Amino acid sequence: MVITGGAGGIGRALVERFTREGARAIVVADANLAGAQAVADEFGATARQVDSGSEAGVVALIDFATETHGPIDVYFSNAGVGGPAAGPETPDEEWDRLWRIHVMSHIWAARKLIPVMTEAGGGYLVNTSSAAGLLIQPSAMAYTVTKHAAVSVAEWLSMTYAAAGIKVSCVCPQAVQTALLDEAMGQTSGASEVVAAAGVLQPEDVADAVIEGMRAERLLILPHQDVADRMVYRATDHEGWLDMDETLAFYVDLLGCEIVTDWGWQVGTDVADKITALHDCSARSVMLRKGNAFIELFQYTSPEPGPGDPDRRVCDPGLTHLCFDVTDLDEEYERLLAAGMKFHCPPQDVAPSVRTTYGRDPNGNVIELQQVSDDKHRIAVPWLPERGLAQ
Ligand SMILES: NC(=O)c1ccc[n+]([C@@H]2O[C@H](COP(=O)([O-])OP(=O)(O)OC[C@H]3O[C@@H](n4cnc5c(N)ncnc54)[C@H](O)[C@@H]3O)[C@@H](O)[C@H]2O)c1
Repeated sequence: MVITGGAGGIGRALVERFTREGARAIVVADANLAGAQAVADEFGATARQVDSGSEAGVVALIDFATETHGPIDVYFSNAGVGGPAAGPETPDEEWDRLWRIHVMSHIWAARKLIPVMTEAGGGYLVNTSSAAGLLIQPSAMAYTVTKHAAVSVAEWLSMTYAAAGIKVSCVCPQAVQTALLDEAMGQTSGASEVVAAAGVLQPEDVADAVIEGMRAERLLILPHQDVADRMVYRATDHEGWLDMDETLAFYVDLLGCEIVTDWGWQVGTDVADKITALHDCSARSVMLRKGNAFIELFQYTSPEPGPGDPDRRVCDPGLTHLCFDVTDLDEEYERLLAAGMKFHCPPQDVAPSVRTTYGRDPNGNVIELQQVSDDKHRIAVPWLPERGLAQ
């Protein structure tokens, strides 16, 4: 068998697990040859350098594996990259790079292998997509779009070539503790512990789910169970699912919050009706983390929400405002203003070392941005690293 992206993370765990399962021969392929070689040496496999983003590279890899070990029974197209935290402004070269690595690599492998596997009476093609390929990764458009296409490639191949004996699986994990996740999270200390509490799997957990899923010959292999629940929510209430994303984009893309959990419940969940004092309620809940604060957003889709007033007065009863402590108020104000956030006024001096302004999130909730430049000031927030406490 061949495993691409095998130099680390999920790929390495797959090599280890398939070795234990008794795979006859494994070719560990990666752009990082030294990494692939180290994994191959550890598990008695063969290393090969490949650029999965090039058809010539994928074809040469398949030829090499076939010449070295005989026909390929399982081709695991797992290599992937994080891509930029950006939307349509992502440069074309990045779109192209992600498209090649996350989509075309699977197609090129299928183009080369399906005739051979059909001739041999069968074979197994697996690709690693992501939960982002079934749902949405709010901050990363190119990653989301290309991973969606990867799911589609697997579905299409599965449906079309089942009769020829070609089995297809597509692995869609959520967060997994690998270099790719560390890069995506900007490696803030403490963040991984928080996300771990919310369900980061280890690469070995994904490998276990893969073995189980391939034994059952399942098209979608979902190592995180709540991804299936969220797919149901997305399918049954697509508008509700999408509505939330404008607000999420504000908190994640503009304010830099990270998503810790994302789930929802359907009509008929008695305990939710009891807690909310609503009848037949359904909602999506997203827990966000920013520094040492957690914010939980809810989007109720049932009962039909009443009209809100995006300009409601801050003195009206309810949550009056959320305050974010910033280190450069003018810079943050200009950045958010340019991104379309509404403010009541430009930054104001409210005390010798305290400046502040109020604005609104997309739902009219009041967001205060505050800068306290004197660490000894009585309202200075003590969690900033320079004030001696970990963020
Ligand atoms: N870690 C997560 O949270 C997560 C979640 C969902 C899906 N995934 C997917 O899992 C797969 C494996 O990623 P990982 O998390 O183990 O990350 P990783 O960074 O540990 O491994 C990815 C591997 O792919 C290799 N690679 C990248 N571009 C390549 C190219 N053009 N040609 C050949 N090799 C290349 C890298 O060198 C690396 O060894 C990826 O497809 C990724 O998108 C990861």
